[in-house]
Amino acid sequence: MFQGPFSESIIKRAREQGSVEIILHDIRDYSEDKHKRVDDYPFGGGAGMVMQIGPIASVIDKLKSERDYDEVIYMTPDGHRFNQKIANSLSIKTNLILLCGHYKGVDQRVREHYITSEISIGDYVLTGGELAAAVVVDAVVRLIPGVISDETSALSDSFQDNLLAPPVYTRPADFNGWKVPDVLLSGHQKAIDTWREEQSLLRTRKLRPDLLEGEE
Ligand code: ADE
Repeated sequence: MFQGPFSESIIKRAREQGSVEIILHDIRDYSEDKHKRVDDYPFGGGAGMVMQIGPIASVIDKLKSERDYDEVIYMTPDGHRFNQKIANSLSIKTNLILLCGHYKGVDQRVREHYITSEISIGDYVLTGGELAAAVVVDAVVRLIPGVISDETSALSDSFQDNLLAPPVYTRPADFNGWKVPDVLLSGHQKAIDTWREEQSLLRTRKLRPDLLEGEE
């Protein structure tokens, strides 16, 4: 599941140039069961399986014995909703563990004793936390200095200042009569900057008014 996201394009280059190290750990490798099981039936009954604390504790304890971690994050639909602000704060950390749940989730004692924060990428349920973790890694790694060639580029993204990005255009200036706004061709940088700020505000008001109310 991580093959594509972590082995292509910008994340690939970031790993190759040493801007980030991403190591995958298979919790099954820490199972003491001969069938490598890591889940079991929930106490008290009910549908679905629960990931056991044993193998998760083993892998986290091993990792923590090798280096210090700033956060042990559990990917779960009932976590804090991921946003640019959280991505920014994670991008300045040194070491992170992202724990991906499956089935009905992990034994609550993992959350109480190992997890320091919980992240959801949205109000929907994925089959596991892996795709959510890939989203978080992608959003965070691109903010690490030197990962995106144009350093100002990440700063002008949508959401960086709670505003959506303005529209962008490139050549040709006229495609079958569909023209690029004159101001962008004017060469007046001040007018262009003002236009972009106005467009950002207009787009945000129209498409995401919640951002202007300071909602996180
Ligand atoms: N695991 C399953 N669904 C998820 C979601 N929406 N966010 C984070 N982790 C998840």
